[in-house]
Amino acid sequence: MTTKTIAIIGFGTVGTGVAKLLHEESARLEDRAGCPLQLKHVVVHDLAKERPLSLPAGVVTDNLQAVLDDTEVDIVAQLVGGIEPARTIMTQILQSGKDVVTANKALLAEHGAELFNLARSLGRSIAFEASVAGGVPIIAGIGRNLAANQVTSLRGILNGTSNFIVSQMEEGGAAYDDAVKDAQVRGYAEADPTMDVDGTDAAQKLAILAHLAFGADVRWQSIPKIGIDQLQSADLQYATELGYRIKLLAIAELADKGEAPGLDLHVSPTLVRIGTPLAEVRGANNAISVVGDAVGQVFFHGLGAGQMPTASAVVADLVDLAVGRGQLTFNALQLWSDRPAKVAARHADLARDRFYVRLRIDDRPGVLAEASGALGQHDISIASVIQHEPEDGTGQADLVIMTHQATEGAMMKATSDLEALTAVRQPVIRMRVLERREESRSH
Ligand code: HSE
Repeated sequence: MTTKTIAIIGFGTVGTGVAKLLHEESARLEDRAGCPLQLKHVVVHDLAKERPLSLPAGVVTDNLQAVLDDTEVDIVAQLVGGIEPARTIMTQILQSGKDVVTANKALLAEHGAELFNLARSLGRSIAFEASVAGGVPIIAGIGRNLAANQVTSLRGILNGTSNFIVSQMEEGGAAYDDAVKDAQVRGYAEADPTMDVDGTDAAQKLAILAHLAFGADVRWQSIPKIGIDQLQSADLQYATELGYRIKLLAIAELADKGEAPGLDLHVSPTLVRIGTPLAEVRGANNAISVVGDAVGQVFFHGLGAGQMPTASAVVADLVDLAVGRGQLTFNALQLWSDRPAKVAARHADLARDRFYVRLRIDDRPGVLAEASGALGQHDISIASVIQHEPEDGTGQADLVIMTHQATEGAMMKATSDLEALTAVRQPVIRMRVLERREESRSH
């Protein structure tokens, strides 16, 4: 039973959780790994900073180079966020002959090809379960356990912070800014929470999943994204009236047979019918509904952010690499390799969905006909309309329209036509409405 020696780089929220598990659950982990996992170093930037976890003397160090030079270290948990210095550190770890575990999705989404190719050329491995959906085992789920399937649909709540914020606003009537602060205090948010609320974090995770599930070479920047930062409480309220909740969904779906082939990808606030599994995902939980051609629909659910859920995924990867499974999986997956992409993203205009449209209108004769005319011009059919009584003295009212299926391209054109109407007072709000397609695709 040769001991596997571990180093952690970064002693923030996740690094502390990983150190805690390695330290406090050493017997359990030894049992699972078949050998002791010894935490030898934790590299920090500032030695003087107070830490919530005390480790044996000499473990915490600010000397990264000494750790890279330590030939006893087998595996490094690289838990520094952002692009630099994380990218340089990751490169150095691989070059020093060690395997890496990382939770850094931004780095993989941006530089996955470079880092994976470097690892392969050096005979090293990168494990990254914690990079998507925190404690939810979606990387192993898709990469290993659903390996028999062609995945056809992947619909996910991939950003815990956004889901937490929207849940707080819906359930407790919290103000947006207070909910953001709360998410930061609880350790869910990125160092810059803009990445969470503008859809960047979810798009980066979706790009990683699209590589894994579809063999698609997707750059996260090319995924159309809208975050929750522009979400208005009126829309949360109208969605509830209509029987829906609004969720920030990240979607990757193979176009149905008969349409132009390709992958539809987007991240956007979406109306999801109350009572369906994705609508009931609350707080910082993440969930991913995956449809495979053999298995049907599989639903993954659990905490996607926070210290211990993310540490759980990092430590699982440490165990996998200690056992030797992680290296085999890394080689077999051939992610970001020279293999030709199996599918390409379709033009965003082609994606078909139902839409929720809200117009702030002057309450005068003929406006409803003008609005329905603008939609009809682009072949968009209305499924239902609600107009609320005008607020006293404003002469303006909210008109909420639910459409039948339409393409994104037609909806975009119709939206600009609607905004050009003199009776329409504010930018038109439009959101996708999730259809329960998984039932018809599964067995
Ligand atoms: N900030 C991320 C989230 C957690 O809120 O989901 C790490 O990916």
